[in-house]
Amino acid sequence: MTALHPIAIIGTGIAGLSAAQALHAAGHSVQLFDKSRGSGGRMASKRSDGGALDLGAQYFTARDRRFVEVVQQWQARGWVAEWTPSLYNFKNGQLSASPDEQVRWVGSPRMSAITRAMLGALPVHFSCRITEVFRGEQHWHLQDAEGNSHGPFSHVIVATPAPQATTLLSSVPKLAGAAASVAMDPTWAVALAFDTPLESKVEGCFVQDSPLDWLARNRSKPGRDSQLDTWVLHATSQWTKQNLDMSKEDVTEHLLGAFAELIGCTVPAPTFSLAHRWLYARPASAHQWGVLADADLGIYACGDWCLSGRVEGAWLSGQEAARRLLENLQ
Ligand code: FAD
Ligand code: NAI
Repeated sequence: MTALHPIAIIGTGIAGLSAAQALHAAGHSVQLFDKSRGSGGRMASKRSDGGALDLGAQYFTARDRRFVEVVQQWQARGWVAEWTPSLYNFKNGQLSASPDEQVRWVGSPRMSAITRAMLGALPVHFSCRITEVFRGEQHWHLQDAEGNSHGPFSHVIVATPAPQATTLLSSVPKLAGAAASVAMDPTWAVALAFDTPLESKVEGCFVQDSPLDWLARNRSKPGRDSQLDTWVLHATSQWTKQNLDMSKEDVTEHLLGAFAELIGCTVPAPTFSLAHRWLYARPASAHQWGVLADADLGIYACGDWCLSGRVEGAWLSGQEAARRLLENLQ
């Protein structure tokens, strides 16, 4: 059965787009909304003088058979490529090579290429922050921050991080309560660009005992044709929480200092740097919900926080939202 009205999807991260693609493929009309100017959410890439920088998700792994299959399709279409960095580990003050056999994927030529391709020509409202989701007699309606109403919709899928979902689910207290129970930790990200390449073999590094958690040589990812030697640094959740309101300049200075201490070569002043604070970077713990649903009312919530806090978990959660919605239409 096809719904009489379109299905609203709030959030054009990978979870929302995973659901949108599945519903569209099943013949349903969808309408997407995102508060940002483009799609991707935490898989977005920032344009800069050093080319596009992946400030959020760095790479992803595929372990579930369904996700492995879809990533193979994305690879065949040129949306993703395998990234094989020279991996290092920094522990007890020592930098050491830490190669492994894990297959790691990145969007090509930038992380945001995946969600952009998934969105295709689906109808979307960008720069549209939804503030309220409410049900009329039979259908759903959305209110945005500019005071505009959208609808009617047969169903709604909320595909935002848990704290934002809590507000949007307020008309269904059972779902709002579950979303409210999910704490999400922040991450400060800093990008650096150097005119002269650093004399280091490191292309990716898992870091312990430092304000940093991870660092990557952005330019080492396939398809990034930057003239500059670009790096992305991520602080630990703990350091970020302790320094949540620090100025971007001070965050950059601190994390650049931590980077220079561990990278094992001279680090000149960067040509440019930028800092970004991800307030809801990752769920503090994993859940096995898959999706939150009130099938009678026709409202669903999905996202990485409903499964593992990873790209794969977000995609699987979006699939689960679409599956449950379609099941209810039969
Ligand atoms: P999101 O990508 O957050 O999408 C939600 C969307 O909803 C956003 O576009 C947002 O703008 C929109 N939105 C929110 N509120 C509203 C509203 N009120 N109205 C309209 N729109 C709204 N995962 C990995 O697998 N590997 C990694 O290496 C990795 N590294 C990471 C590093 C960082 C710094 C961060 C932040 C995340 C990282 N992740 C990584 C996690 C991964 O990025 C996420 O799990 C995944 O992208 C989440 O997708 P999502 O669709 O659930 O949510
Ligand atoms: P993965 O299998 O590459 O990494 C999982 C974890 O295993 C790593 O965090 C690291 O601790 C360890 N590890 C893996 N390979 C290693 C190696 N060669 N040497 C030393 N340690 C190694 O990828 P998976 O499971 O897909 O995880 C995704 C990554 O995304 C993780 O690193 C996670 O921390 C990161 N992430 C970061 C977020 C943030 O806000 N900074 C949010 C969500 C995920």
